[in-house]
Amino acid sequence: MSDRYAVFGNPIGHSKSPRIHAAFAAQTGEAVVYEAIEAPADDFAGAWRAFVAAGGRGANVTVPFKQDAFALAEVHTPRAHLAGAVNTLWLDADGRVRGDTTDGVGLVRDLQAHAAPLAGARVLLLGAGGASRGVIQPLLEAGVDTLRVANRTPAKAQALAALFAGSGRVDGCGFEALEGDFDLVINATSASLAGELPPLPETLFASEALAYDMMYGAEPTVFLRWAEARGARTLDGLGMLLEQAAESFWLWRQVRPETAALRERLRAEL
Ligand code: ATR
Repeated sequence: MSDRYAVFGNPIGHSKSPRIHAAFAAQTGEAVVYEAIEAPADDFAGAWRAFVAAGGRGANVTVPFKQDAFALAEVHTPRAHLAGAVNTLWLDADGRVRGDTTDGVGLVRDLQAHAAPLAGARVLLLGAGGASRGVIQPLLEAGVDTLRVANRTPAKAQALAALFAGSGRVDGCGFEALEGDFDLVINATSASLAGELPPLPETLFASEALAYDMMYGAEPTVFLRWAEARGARTLDGLGMLLEQAAESFWLWRQVRPETAALRERLRAEL
C-alpha cells in the first residue's frame, strides 16, 4: 500500500505540489500518494490530526499555515528555528511530529542550478516577511559576502536583519535608502502577486547581476520585466518550488529525485 502525503493550504486549488510529487514518485518508484488538502483557516491542527488518523505520514504546508505548522511540530531542525516557520512535517519512528523548512535550501539549489552569483556576492533581498526570513541563513551558508534586506516598512527590515546580526553580513533598510551595486537581487515581497513593483532606484544591478522573483507564472512578473530592462539576467521562482519539493521528498523518503527535466516540463505547462 502507498504511503500518504499531502500539501495543506488555504486556498490550495492551484497548487502544483501534487503534480510534482506524483512525478517524483513515478521517477523514483517510491510508493507515495500525495493530495492537496484545504484546511480551515482557523484549524490547521485539526486538519493535520484528521490526516494522521487516516494514515497520513507527512505533509507540506503552505500559505497561511507555516507558523501553525511550526507551533504544531514537536521537534524542529535548526533551520526551521531560524526561519520561524515549517513547510515540511512528518512523523518519526517514535510517532513524534517533526518540522523542517525546505524553502531556503530550495532557493539556493535553484540559484546554483542556474549558475547565479552566490559565493562572495552582494545580495539584496526585497521584503521582510516570512518568505525573506526563511532564505537568509541558507544564503549566508552559500557564502554570500553581504546581504541587505530592504522593505517598504524599514523597521521590519531592521528587525529581521537583527536576527542575523551575529553573521556580521546582514543589514536592513527602507527602499528610499537603497543604493549600491548588487550581484543578486531577490524579490521576496508579495508585491508581484498584486502586479506591483516595489519603489526601487534606477541603478541597482552590478554587471552580470541576476534578478530573482520568488513568484512565477506564464508571464514574467513586473519586477522581472523591470530588471530585464535594466540589463539584469532574470529568473522566476518555479525552480525554487520544485527544489523545495525535492528536499521535502528527501526528508520523507531518503531518496533524492532528479529535477532538471521536470523543471522543463513544468515550465512548458505554465
Ligand atoms: P510572506 O510570508 O510571503 O513574506 P508577509 O509576511 O505578509 O508575506 O510579507 C509580505 C512582504 O511583502 C512584506 O515585506 C511587505 O512589506 P511591508 O512589511 O512593508 O508590509 C511586502 N509587500 C507587500 N506588498 C508590497 C508592495 N506593493 N510593495 C512593496 N512591498 C510589498
